[in-house]
Amino acid sequence: MSAPEAPFGLLAELTYRCPLACAYCSNPLEMAAYNDELSTSDWQRVFAEAAELGVLQCHLSGGEPLLRRDLTDLVRTASELGMYTNLVTSAMGLSRSRATVLREAGLDHVQISVQADEPTTSDRIAGIPSFERKLEACRLVRELDWPLTVNVVIHRQNIDRIGAILALVEELQADRVELANTQYYGWAWKNRSALLPSKEQLDRSEEVVSAARERLAGRMEIVHVLPDYYSDYPKPCMGGWAARQLTVAPNGDALPCPAAQTLPLPRASVRDASVEEIWTSAPLFTAFRGTDWMQEPCRTCDRREVDFGGCRCQAFQLTGDATRTDPVCFKSPDHHLVEQAVDGANAPDRRVDLELVPRPHRA
Ligand code: SF4
Ligand code: FES
Repeated sequence: MSAPEAPFGLLAELTYRCPLACAYCSNPLEMAAYNDELSTSDWQRVFAEAAELGVLQCHLSGGEPLLRRDLTDLVRTASELGMYTNLVTSAMGLSRSRATVLREAGLDHVQISVQADEPTTSDRIAGIPSFERKLEACRLVRELDWPLTVNVVIHRQNIDRIGAILALVEELQADRVELANTQYYGWAWKNRSALLPSKEQLDRSEEVVSAARERLAGRMEIVHVLPDYYSDYPKPCMGGWAARQLTVAPNGDALPCPAAQTLPLPRASVRDASVEEIWTSAPLFTAFRGTDWMQEPCRTCDRREVDFGGCRCQAFQLTGDATRTDPVCFKSPDHHLVEQAVDGANAPDRRVDLELVPRPHRA
């Protein structure tokens, strides 16, 4: 097999510790396995190896990356290596002094998560009072003249507020907003029935978003990620398996996608091998590259190079077999598993405020 193209981005999950307890969190359920975090010098070596391999973008994420005391050093290293640096944060802990130092260290972009447009819903979903501090942090980012993306995970319990959410983001003068419907991994999987919106909710939200897109054209980019459970075809997850991005978890596990630690494949760790060795030949990375691994109906489908058979983690989660067609696809023999969830979300008696199981706090 020829050498794969270099990855474009590195998602550096610096820690899974987080002051929030969002019920839609896609981080692993078994967080104890990630207590032994990579050291500063480990991460700096990983960044150097990633840059050497050709990575251009470094997303510093978590958990809450601001909980790492060495964040400034890590930003500086990534920046000096020529990578575009993006901080993906809840903003808890983004004080003026911390922001100023990060700016000086070369941080290029900030992405702040917001849970809703008003404190009651937002704080309930986040699990702690955090709304006002998030808004303050967004204002600080704009004041320091950083590009700002606001990320809002959309689900059954906030989707009806999408118009007000867009108005808030506009007021915050974000350059970009990501309205990302929940992906059902980790804690979000546990909370799926309380998070999956109804078709009616989804249709209304699409109307609101398309009107806002017209109104805000040229001023704010709106990225709207629809829930794949309502699609006929699956999403081309990660742009194909181990094709464009790699993730490194807090304990050094290297993953083709952030949810891949659930798959029954041998682990790959940056503690044992270089980023290039892992990217090129670790079984976890080669397992689903290309199309040779596919079963029917993907194997002979003319969309196999378009959606790559969908999401491997979702296929495994729903069927127990990561080589099966993503059950979101209407051609999948397992499609009824998705239809059952959608039927439940559209049941006339299904409330929109079902109780959420919060992710445990680990700060
Ligand atoms: Fe995609 Fe496979 Fe469905 Fe074809 S059968 S559309 S390749 S998921
Ligand atoms: Fe892992 Fe889709 S989340 S392949």
